[in-house]
Amino acid sequence: MEKLKEKILSEGKVISDSILKVDSFLNHQVDVNLMKEIGEEFGKYFNSKNITKVVTIESSGISPATMTALYLNVPLVFLKKQKPNTLNNDILQTTVKSFTKGETYELTVSKKYLQKDDNILLIDDFLANGEAASGAIRLIEALGSNVSGIGIVIEKSFQPGRKLLESRGYDIYSLARIKQLSDGKIYFL
Ligand code: G4P
Repeated sequence: MEKLKEKILSEGKVISDSILKVDSFLNHQVDVNLMKEIGEEFGKYFNSKNITKVVTIESSGISPATMTALYLNVPLVFLKKQKPNTLNNDILQTTVKSFTKGETYELTVSKKYLQKDDNILLIDDFLANGEAASGAIRLIEALGSNVSGIGIVIEKSFQPGRKLLESRGYDIYSLARIKQLSDGKIYFL
């Protein structure tokens, strides 16, 4: 998506050879007009897949996922990272290890919001190692829903996430694919 790539080039900050900071439009402040276009782009691409729900992971996935769900006119479910106050039988949890942040967290979903045979479009802001997406997929599939597609705003193609998910047969659409970050510069595929 050209407009997204231009935004990344003009506002993205290369923190290291593996981390790109995009706080000004995606991870802290949100460019809502860009998010609207991102939602339309994902919506059009996955329109033929009979999507019944959009799923994302809090927090930065919520804005692109909301716009996608709005375009497709389906509910949005975001998977929670904070521990629920009370453990009960209504929830399902899985452990995710974040290599980028060097921490482990529990991803939680309430069973009542994902049903057997739901066709899920999973949206996330970044794809790096694919750990977060893999955790989300574990929860979705454990409840009998199908992962019908994966939409990623920024893919770091030099990290193994895409290969991992593709090897499992998922249809991945990334709007910007970064080949390399080096010497403060961003190179797209
Ligand atoms: P993975 O899921 O693909 O394995 O990635 P990883 O666990 O390593 O990423 C953990 C967090 O770091 C995620 O955010 C992810 O979006 C973010 N992240 C990974 N690489 C980059 C990067 O180059 N730039 C930025 N800005 N973020 C990156 P999170 O912890 O879920 O945060 P948030 O959604 O609450 O903002």
